Amino acid sequence: MLKIKPVALDRLPKLLRLMPKAELHMHIEGSLEPELMFALAQRNGVSMAYADVESLRRAYVFDNLQDFLDIYHAGTLVLRTEQDFYDMAHAYLARAAADNVVHAEIFFDTQTHTGHGLSTEVVINGLHRACVAGEAEFGISASLILCFLRHLSEKEAFESLEQALPLRDKLLGVGLASSEKGHPPEKFARVFARARDLGFRLVAHAGEEGPPAYIWSALDVLKVERIDHGVQAINDPTLMAHLAKERIPLTVCPLSNLKLRVFPALAEHNLGRMMEAGIVATINSDDPAYFGGHINQNFTQTFAALGLGAQQAYQLARNSFEASFIDDSLRHQYIDRLNAAFETFD
Ligand code: ADE
Ligand code: ZN
Repeated sequence: MLKIKPVALDRLPKLLRLMPKAELHMHIEGSLEPELMFALAQRNGVSMAYADVESLRRAYVFDNLQDFLDIYHAGTLVLRTEQDFYDMAHAYLARAAADNVVHAEIFFDTQTHTGHGLSTEVVINGLHRACVAGEAEFGISASLILCFLRHLSEKEAFESLEQALPLRDKLLGVGLASSEKGHPPEKFARVFARARDLGFRLVAHAGEEGPPAYIWSALDVLKVERIDHGVQAINDPTLMAHLAKERIPLTVCPLSNLKLRVFPALAEHNLGRMMEAGIVATINSDDPAYFGGHINQNFTQTFAALGLGAQQAYQLARNSFEASFIDDSLRHQYIDRLNAAFETFD
């Protein structure tokens, strides 16, 4: 492992910004900024419940995950065409590249959109086209993870998987998102088994608001390779030891946790304690348009609140590449770039 020199506090934001990193936990529908939302509403003749961008932004105050999901779902109503999905993902990739994200594994769902009368093809083709353009325009590698909505039934998850299969080569994996409490991972045991047989990479949200038992069942029943959020693991020492020993990555989203009141303040976030316990944690934005920041704002605000430094910056960026589903040769290229960024920083 590279020897990391300490960096003065006032220079840390620059280092956090310029270090290459991967983003592994963001929902593309949660990147839809109010400005683009209003533009798409106008383009598609969809009426908005808010008069303007400012009043919409003012509504982004949440007490918990469900509160947020209700507003988030209303925002997706403006998405009607393949071009809308392309424009949304292209805007995200441009913004992520500006934060020196060099690789992104992007969550999306089809159930929301098929529920609005759209086809699975419109969603996946628009997003995939943006991933291809993102690589050419910004040099960012990007791939797509289809999330099942856990408040719906397993049968409906199966349907969304089957509808996506003709576009299998445009997908990297499957995940599990939406309302966590009352919808344990094991509800989706069979659909994850099927996705696994088909060669999909597997992730799931677990332990965001829900108990450590949900993290255990995501691992043991769904056989996921990463846990999204996972911050409630701190309440189960055996689980903490297991995550560290097996090097199961957690994709942590600090500003999301703050906005959804998982922690009362960023200074009370457990990311630092997780890292001290040897857990492979990463920092991500989750739904950047709703939670007050893209990935670099998650880094800078969390580092300031927790007093983290250059060593943790390197570790988190390195973890993001170790935890990603890229092939080893690309992984090594990215880690070499990361090492070079730290070696030349002064
Ligand atoms: N969908 C979008 N953001 C989410 C989150 N933080 N948790 C669960 N589902 C989500
Ligand atoms: Zn999420």
